[in-house]
Amino acid sequence: MKQQQLDKFRVWFDDYVAGFYGDDEFVNVNIKLKEDHSRRTCKEMLYLAEQLNLSANQRLIAETIALLHDVGRFEQFIKYKTYSDPRSTNHSLLGLKILRREKILDGIEQKEREIIEKAIEFHGRKELPADLDGDRLLFSKLIRDADKIDILYVITQYYKQYRDNPKAFKLEVELPDEPGYSKKVVEKILTGQKIDYTKLRTLNDMKLCQLGWVYDVNFTATLKRIKQRKFLQMLIDFLPKTGDIKQVEKKVFAYVDSRIENEGKI
Ligand SMILES: [Fe+2]
Repeated sequence: MKQQQLDKFRVWFDDYVAGFYGDDEFVNVNIKLKEDHSRRTCKEMLYLAEQLNLSANQRLIAETIALLHDVGRFEQFIKYKTYSDPRSTNHSLLGLKILRREKILDGIEQKEREIIEKAIEFHGRKELPADLDGDRLLFSKLIRDADKIDILYVITQYYKQYRDNPKAFKLEVELPDEPGYSKKVVEKILTGQKIDYTKLRTLNDMKLCQLGWVYDVNFTATLKRIKQRKFLQMLIDFLPKTGDIKQVEKKVFAYVDSRIENEGKI
């Protein structure tokens, strides 16, 4: 694909998102959250592209995916006033519907278009389909990692604002902010397993689940970035200071360090 095509997507995106702002401050804050997230995800994607030595054409595809991966979020929020997919609709599929309706990717060559569409479709899935290969697999992995890096940034900011001033907090908090956490969620992390979102009961469970994302990271470059920006330490600091959490901290950090140390060896 060409640079001019990416430039056109950027102009379309700006214009499309601008149409969702209005008089409702709750809506505006939430739209802004995903608008900013999409832009920052482009930067994280370019960081990964650089680290993985992608070609100029691959970088254009990667940035297009990052810019458009959450394009369904805006209609989702306007219609349902939530970003919870289970309580509303699958935002990845909604995004694809919008791109087709607006004929955004029509000028892109078929093979590249499919890569972009598949990466958007799969970015929020619990697991990638087992039969995915080649560039479809590469770009699906890339967007999942770039997305995670920026979501870790968003949520650590979010937890800080919420802790400092819960009453002024304008974003939705999906789970009850109670002092405890579920032992089962702790166990999953200590045994290196991914956590099912439906099993989460409290906000602390959500933080633990987000620490467990490290197991689902595809590229060592992503782990380096997460470590360098101290997101894991911040999440730990928002959790109760118990023996369980101390163990989780040890386990997660040891995992990240061993992957970074073994880079290239396996
Ligand atoms: Fe998303």
